[in-house]
Amino acid sequence: MQIIKLNAIASTNTYLKQLAKQISIEDETVLVTDHQKKGRGQLQNKWHSQPGKSLTFSVYKRFEDLFVGSQFVISMVVSLAVKHFLNDLGVPAVQIKWPNDIMAGGKKCGGILIENELRGDTLQASIIGIGLNVNEKTFQNLPNATSLYLETNVMFDLALLLSKLSKAIIDNLNNMNKVPLDAVKIKYEEDLYLLGVSKVFKTSQGTFFQGKITGILYTGELCVVREDGDVILYNNKEIIYN
Ligand code: BTN
Repeated sequence: MQIIKLNAIASTNTYLKQLAKQISIEDETVLVTDHQKKGRGQLQNKWHSQPGKSLTFSVYKRFEDLFVGSQFVISMVVSLAVKHFLNDLGVPAVQIKWPNDIMAGGKKCGGILIENELRGDTLQASIIGIGLNVNEKTFQNLPNATSLYLETNVMFDLALLLSKLSKAIIDNLNNMNKVPLDAVKIKYEEDLYLLGVSKVFKTSQGTFFQGKITGILYTGELCVVREDGDVILYNNKEIIYN
């Protein structure tokens, strides 16, 4: 693993993606900045971070002979790696909000943006972008955001956190083939935020319904049972809930 630190850049994911088009990037390269100016989130959202207070980094990970259908497995493995890392740090009540938001005490403390390099039906490499709120004491206009400091009352050393978390993510990805797929899915579902809780959901068409999350498919869809008993599968863009 090598860690490259850049001062102020737009987005670590975008930077690594552009670099990968120009040169052959060493496997397990980590790119970090303490001032990310145009952070990107899932679904074209923006990722805001306060310079020097949080972690914003991306890991370049190559794969060999990995079927393109494994994209959500990578997402589960990375989410679980972050979740267990935070548990080990002593952060209470850490959960994963589908597909890969990291929650602590019911609020979001981290986000993951995975962008994959595909060739034919194989996945060549992933750029795994992690944004983790660490030492923030307040958030403006983000009522659903939290930080590790707010959840633990402890200030963390960002450089130490970066090297340990990057290593945990890379180790888990390197061991991915040794862990049965159903064990990964079971663990992911065990840690799923709002699993089995009756909630109001909103669809991308703007309709509301009462239902409960029952699990996920290996391919990444969220399974929700509606009040009338129908089980519906949703992709990332198709359903909203808090
Ligand atoms: C989300 O919650 O929507 C995902 C947020 C991912 C943010 C990280 S910060 C480092 C990397 N670079 C980016 O531009 N985005 C990811």
